[in-house]
Amino acid sequence: MIANFPTDVIAATRKYIYVFRRRGFIKPTSYFVLLLCLSYYLGYLSTVSKNPTHEPHQHYSTTTSSPPSKVVVDHYQFQTRCADPIPSQFIRETILNYVFNGTSPYHDFPQPHIKPLLRQKKINGWGSTGAVFRNLIHKVRPKTIIELGTFLGASAIHMAELTRELGLDTQILCIDDFRGWPGLPNQFQDIKMVNGDTMLMYQFMQNVVQVNATEAIIFLPFSTASTLEKLCEWGVFGDLIEVDAGHDFHSAWLDINRAYKLLRPGGVIFGHDYFTAADNRGVRRAVNMFASVNGLRVKADGQHWVLGSF
Ligand SMILES: C[S@@+](CC[C@H](N)C(=O)[O-])C[C@H]1O[C@@H](n2cnc3c(N)ncnc32)[C@H](O)[C@@H]1O
Repeated sequence: MIANFPTDVIAATRKYIYVFRRRGFIKPTSYFVLLLCLSYYLGYLSTVSKNPTHEPHQHYSTTTSSPPSKVVVDHYQFQTRCADPIPSQFIRETILNYVFNGTSPYHDFPQPHIKPLLRQKKINGWGSTGAVFRNLIHKVRPKTIIELGTFLGASAIHMAELTRELGLDTQILCIDDFRGWPGLPNQFQDIKMVNGDTMLMYQFMQNVVQVNATEAIIFLPFSTASTLEKLCEWGVFGDLIEVDAGHDFHSAWLDINRAYKLLRPGGVIFGHDYFTAADNRGVRRAVNMFASVNGLRVKADGQHWVLGSF
């Protein structure tokens, strides 16, 4: 402890002793003053050690020890290396094997106990048939489309119709946990709920069956984060990726970063709600930040943002 004494305290103490000597103070008084200084300083030290964030010793604090720049850099790291891309004609089979034990989830759908809970067809969406879909599908002619956020399948079904029109043999992978969001049953009362389980996935499947698109559309009913990690591990890449799941900044930021790694060369990534004020413009902030970090230019198409080789 003494060895760590700051030099200014030692110097001050020496000065006092010198002054006391010169003024002829008697020795016990000098020792008394010296003792007073020491006890004050030691008391001060013990207070600081109980409160490590005390300003003069802030560098002892573990919570503030990392330089902010390092923390910021970590947020930009999405390091996982993906497997080599598998050929697009094997993608459907790969998903069926990994996710559905090799069987089509549309097999024997709908089961008798589910059928009465579904509408023949119920398709709602948001900007799901905007011009951007036609523009990009005509431009990219994708073999594989990955959609993050599917809901009742409005945009996926629209893309299936567009690719069919062009005679493309496109596989559309829909990633959605089919939970919607808290409060969904109040907003969409004809999507039934059974014991707290919303029928969103079954209604989506029913819509796909209705438009005869079960061969074009396959789905992965999980969170975007865990699914994108798996697609990366399996080497499943997309020519066109639509991001339309969580609209808060952090969800959009993670989705865009993870999805971008799965884009084939020459592919395009795009998403909805670039201009809407929803979630404090979280989507726009995430898109702009991603573009700026990666040196890309954002193109707008209606309410949609587009990033890619133009
Ligand atoms: C705006 S809707 C998608 C609309 C659809 N693209 C359309 O145009 O019809 C958003 C969907 O994202 C899904 N979603 C939100 N966050 C998700 C997450 N973290 N993982 C998986 N799905 C998510 C919700 O369940 C919801 O169905």
